[in-house]
Amino acid sequence: MKVLNFGSLNLDYVYQVESILIPGETQASKDRKIFCGGKGLNQSIALAKAGISVFHAGMIGEEGDILLETCRKNGVNTDFIRKIQEPSGHTVIQVDKDGQNCILLFGGSNRRITREFVDEVLSAFEKGDILLLQNEINELDYIIDQAYEKGMMIILNPSPYDKALEVCDLTKVGLFLVNEIEGFQITGEKETEKILAKIRELYPKAAIVLTLGGDGSVYQDETGIYRQGIYKVKAVDTTAAGDTFTGYFISSIINGMPVQEGLQLAAKASAIAVSRPGATDSIPLREEVVNSGM
Ligand code: RIB
Repeated sequence: MKVLNFGSLNLDYVYQVESILIPGETQASKDRKIFCGGKGLNQSIALAKAGISVFHAGMIGEEGDILLETCRKNGVNTDFIRKIQEPSGHTVIQVDKDGQNCILLFGGSNRRITREFVDEVLSAFEKGDILLLQNEINELDYIIDQAYEKGMMIILNPSPYDKALEVCDLTKVGLFLVNEIEGFQITGEKETEKILAKIRELYPKAAIVLTLGGDGSVYQDETGIYRQGIYKVKAVDTTAAGDTFTGYFISSIINGMPVQEGLQLAAKASAIAVSRPGATDSIPLREEVVNSGM
């Protein structure tokens, strides 16, 4: 069974600010660092650091060589990453004194996926292989349809939620990983139990992991519901915490771990990521998670 993550790769321009800017405000930042990120890349690296062999597919632009190097350095297979003559995807991220962030995203090369490229990538995968997706690339609906046709198991982190998801046939998704906001955007419900019930009604065959910020996470499938709290740490930068959770939880499924242990492993890994700056750099190795003493 192979694992393919078809997703974004971004250069993150991270600015340290006293407080997240309000409309019309100008503020001097205290620091700026450039990190490798992108929900796609972060999740591939989380999978690789958790010990899973993963193929990443996506597009980098002219200044994106460092994104490719980061994949290679962390053991992510790069056979399906293409370089094109466009600017790479990038973000402008503000991180405040409490480690909270806000992210402005420029899609760049991530939005230049062609159907020919999708067909080429998927031709290397088969029934039973896993496909992981987020919503920072174009052609998501086509990728889902083609992968489903092949019998791949589709896992979707619908982040950031936007109209592109409304044309996707989400009944083809086997596992959703969503936060409360995305849960509301998909179901129109705000309360945890109501989000879970609505997802069950809309997508009865799918499992769901709903992350609840400081309140932890909940997993639901046809066998029942499992809950997990968070591990409290001093927050330095929350960027990629959700991606770390996603990669680690998927690794637990691939390794056949019981759901409760998988949620616990993912919660520990994301707590460590929150305690460090940056995106891919903040994601811990499996040994660090297991030996963290949490
Ligand atoms: O989830 C965090 C990621 O979101 C950042 O690395 C940034 O690139 C944005 O895609």
